[in-house]
Amino acid sequence: MAFSPNPRRPELLFNNTLRSCALLLGASGLLPMVNAAATKNSAPATIPSQAQFIDQKAFNVLAYVPPPAEFNGTSGPFVPPGYTLDSLLEKPFHIYDKEFATVLGTNPSLTLVGKTEKDPVFHEAVVWTPETDEVFFVQNAGSPDAGTGLNKSAIILKISLADAAVASAAKIAGRNDTLVTVTTVNSTPAVINPNGATNFRGQIVYAGEGQGDKITSALYLMNPKAPYNTTVLVNNYFGRQFSSLNDLAVHPVSRDLYFTDTLYGYLQDFRPAPGLRNQVYRWVEETGALTVVADDFVLPNGITFSPDGKYAYVTDSGMQRVLQGKNYSDPASIYRYDVKKDGTFDNRKTFAYADSSVPDGVHCDAKGNVYAGCGDGVHVWNPSGTLIGKIFLGTGAANFQFAGKGRMVICAETELYYVTLAAEGAIVESEM
Ligand SMILES: *[C@@H]1O[C@H](CO)[C@@H](O)[C@H](O)[C@H]1NC(C)=O
Ligand SMILES: *[C@@H]1O[C@H](CO)[C@@H](O)[C@H](O)[C@H]1NC(C)=O
Ligand SMILES: *[C@@H]1O[C@H](CO)[C@@H](O)[C@H](O)[C@H]1NC(C)=O
Ligand SMILES: *[C@@H]1O[C@H](CO)[C@@H](O)[C@H](O)[C@H]1NC(C)=O
Ligand SMILES: *[C@@H]1O[C@H](CO)[C@@H](O)[C@H](O)[C@H]1NC(C)=O
Repeated sequence: MAFSPNPRRPELLFNNTLRSCALLLGASGLLPMVNAAATKNSAPATIPSQAQFIDQKAFNVLAYVPPPAEFNGTSGPFVPPGYTLDSLLEKPFHIYDKEFATVLGTNPSLTLVGKTEKDPVFHEAVVWTPETDEVFFVQNAGSPDAGTGLNKSAIILKISLADAAVASAAKIAGRNDTLVTVTTVNSTPAVINPNGATNFRGQIVYAGEGQGDKITSALYLMNPKAPYNTTVLVNNYFGRQFSSLNDLAVHPVSRDLYFTDTLYGYLQDFRPAPGLRNQVYRWVEETGALTVVADDFVLPNGITFSPDGKYAYVTDSGMQRVLQGKNYSDPASIYRYDVKKDGTFDNRKTFAYADSSVPDGVHCDAKGNVYAGCGDGVHVWNPSGTLIGKIFLGTGAANFQFAGKGRMVICAETELYYVTLAAEGAIVESEM
């Protein structure tokens, strides 16, 4: 975690946004209306039917730019002039640069395959297991709507991708959304408040945030098949408790495990005040060596590597302090590091700043484009940090994962989406 996603439902917030835009349009007939087939350099030659081109030049100058108390990127998506929330949702693949057309291919699709009333069971730790073709994910730890955190651990759940593909085919054939069966995974002993996960040595490794001040935050290895037995891999730094481990990634060359430790357990009232700095650790399984590779974050969150292992990307969701509110001058940023041959990080640079809420989970595709779950869906940057597109949901997506070639699953708290597109995920660790 974690952020409370941008509410799509609260009408008030949206109406505010829409009203601002109506004002923009009403204020001046001179504002250029956005034409999806605009002949700008950044527009692709052809646009798939589920996609639309968003011309950033068309909103470089707005007639009215609201103050932060009115619009600040956390209270509903930005709706550029000439659009409505409905029009943005209707064609959910938003092309900001023609490079995104290659990511999408000719016929991308987005299908709702899971939905709950309130319980945010579609949260994070999205992992695809190639052998069983299933996707695992976890409930939000610390959300009042889940009742998890201090008194109850978040649970692990999974779906079959074959089911999701059937639902997607039905949707493409013009039928309504079909929800797939979501199965609870009873990890044993239970992973307590899992939040992040990745494939590791043919199994799944979880970052558990812990619970109260006695159940420490830990890395757990879980067998991805029944009986879902678990083994704790690491639960301390030289005898000291982690704050709340958030997310993790395996380096594609060394296969060492890197993970973030941050304050969300504390900020969501289920972990004590921190006894360690917020930072990124590296764990070498063969020796047990645990080292720190990066700090100087407000709230480090997601982590991933470029497919060649040369770069590490770490999201900092510092702007989102949950129960302590938001601080808009804190990061909603992705930092990129060079990963040196010895496994250390170097040359931190600011790679991107999300325009909607904060970036949370982050993953690369096989070509090195960088995807992050943000406040209005999944944003995609090319390796130079240019926003090339969004998979727009109009609501927060904390995390998502590729499921091999051309498939992706997105967790949006009370909604679960299945995506087909041209892009391919970076190779998963168990296939190395
Ligand atoms: C951010 O915007 C929303 C309205 O869109 C407002 O309710 C909230 O107070 C704003 N936050 C700040 C700190 O101004
Ligand atoms: C957890 O239990 C305590 C004590 O019963 C209660 O005060 C608190 O509200 C509970 N928290 C949640 C998130 O349910
Ligand atoms: C699809 O959903 C709409 C809106 O909920 C409903 O009116 C319609 O009957 C549904 N169609 C089918 C084929 O289920
Ligand atoms: C689960 O149990 C099997 C059989 O005993 C064992 O080989 C495997 O390592 C265990 N996995 C974990 C993660 O504990
Ligand atoms: C917001 O964060 C900045 C930078 O960390 C800090 O200087 C400032 O005091 C914070 N503001 C509030 C209201 O907490």
